[in-house]
Amino acid sequence: MTTSLAAATLATLLGPKDFAGPAYREIADRIRLLAIDGRILDGSRLPSERELATAMGVSRTTTSRAYAELRDSGLLVSRQGSGSIVHLPMAVSNASSVIMTPDDADTIALTYSAPVGPPGLARAFEAAAEKLPGLLSTTGYLPDGLPVLREALAQHYTDGGLPTDPDQIIVTAGAMGAVSLLARTLLGPGQRVVVEGLSYPHAHESFVAAGGRLTPLPIDDRPWSPTALRASLDGSPHRAAYLVPDFHNPTGAVMSDAERGAWAYEMRRHDVVPVVDESLREMNLDGVELPPVFATYSPRALLIGSSSKSFWGGLRVGWIRAPKAAIMPIIQARMMDDIGSSAFDQLVFAELLSEGGQTAAAGRARLRAARDHLLAELARELPDIKAPCPPGGLNLWVTLPDRMSSRLTTAASGHGLLLTPGPRFFSHAGTAGERHLRLPFTQSHETLTEAVRRLRLAYDDVVANTGHDARRQRTDVLELIA
Ligand SMILES: Cc1ncc(COP(=O)(O)O)c(C=O)c1O
Repeated sequence: MTTSLAAATLATLLGPKDFAGPAYREIADRIRLLAIDGRILDGSRLPSERELATAMGVSRTTTSRAYAELRDSGLLVSRQGSGSIVHLPMAVSNASSVIMTPDDADTIALTYSAPVGPPGLARAFEAAAEKLPGLLSTTGYLPDGLPVLREALAQHYTDGGLPTDPDQIIVTAGAMGAVSLLARTLLGPGQRVVVEGLSYPHAHESFVAAGGRLTPLPIDDRPWSPTALRASLDGSPHRAAYLVPDFHNPTGAVMSDAERGAWAYEMRRHDVVPVVDESLREMNLDGVELPPVFATYSPRALLIGSSSKSFWGGLRVGWIRAPKAAIMPIIQARMMDDIGSSAFDQLVFAELLSEGGQTAAAGRARLRAARDHLLAELARELPDIKAPCPPGGLNLWVTLPDRMSSRLTTAASGHGLLLTPGPRFFSHAGTAGERHLRLPFTQSHETLTEAVRRLRLAYDDVVANTGHDARRQRTDVLELIA
């Protein structure tokens, strides 16, 4: 399906004309980045060169040269009568740099914040394998999840102060499986969902894919202004709200007790279902005291958890904790989708939960050391970048001295470093986020040291505006997404 991008929309996405180099090249680079990020979808029709020139207030020669650059690099296909169509070499409609990984050993990707499997993981697989005969004597279809795992998860909530029955738990394919299942269960076409103005973008995309309309809150110091929430909910009816209150991705912030209370109050008053993604809650690197889980404030809340961050994303095991009355509609919605998630992986996760927490603690210790190492490297090499220490989560959310996140991302790719530009995490179109960068600390100290060295080179390129071999950068980006 071809989507046409209006000139005004593209001009907004491209941001202000604070070009560091030749305007045509900057425009081409920004369009390329938007396409790689999934902010412009594969197959989209761009506005004509003339329309874009008018919308941006630049000359027609500038936009013609920008489109010519994109055509030369294979990212744009122009056909008589059908306009200029974005063509991503990977031929997928949403290549996102949040998960983009390099296909050569020399390139470093700081695009995903996910840990490698901790040492104790293999042991859990072996222990699960010993229990396999019991599993094989069942059909293995588990629409609500493996009983032993549901019991362990319910106990975990109960121990934490939220009494929970195993039949309030539905095991899903990761937290994302939970988000998309809830989006499909809750939303009718065009129903509105309040979201934080900056967040984990794939979750927002899931609500849109299910037919929802997002209401992103304005960006404040923190992602959860109760005043902004009230204004949005007073303005129009909303079906649900999606929030990440614990070690929020990407900022690392924790929603306070007062904010939780205020949100719960507003959502109750406006009959809005809270969909609360607590998948980062266990990533408490400094052992800070967290307010209780969200259902303590709002019994209606649908809580989402995951094994991906404490253990390993490859397990693909997440879950939903819901009030009893909400369980059946969710399971029914699931029956027309994946029916259940992998029985063996659930068994492995149950083993990990039963071992007393040492594997998860080892993973947190490793991440804490990596976080501190990355902070020290940044302070030494790039003191202009403000990098606050997050008490948990898997990444730094840094502030750049200028609006340069996309330019830095492009320059970094020329030095073999893949980044996700700040605007990717913002729901508002435009260049919000150009002062920010998410830097995951999930890799080895050695890799992080080298990543910061490359970031420094890219930063110097941008600051000095040396026009670092732009053609090479373009080729690299295209090779990486191919
Ligand atoms: C807030 C949030 N939700 C969901 C996910 C996806 O998690 P999973 O691997 O469990 O699907 C992530 C991954 O980074 C995340 O940060």
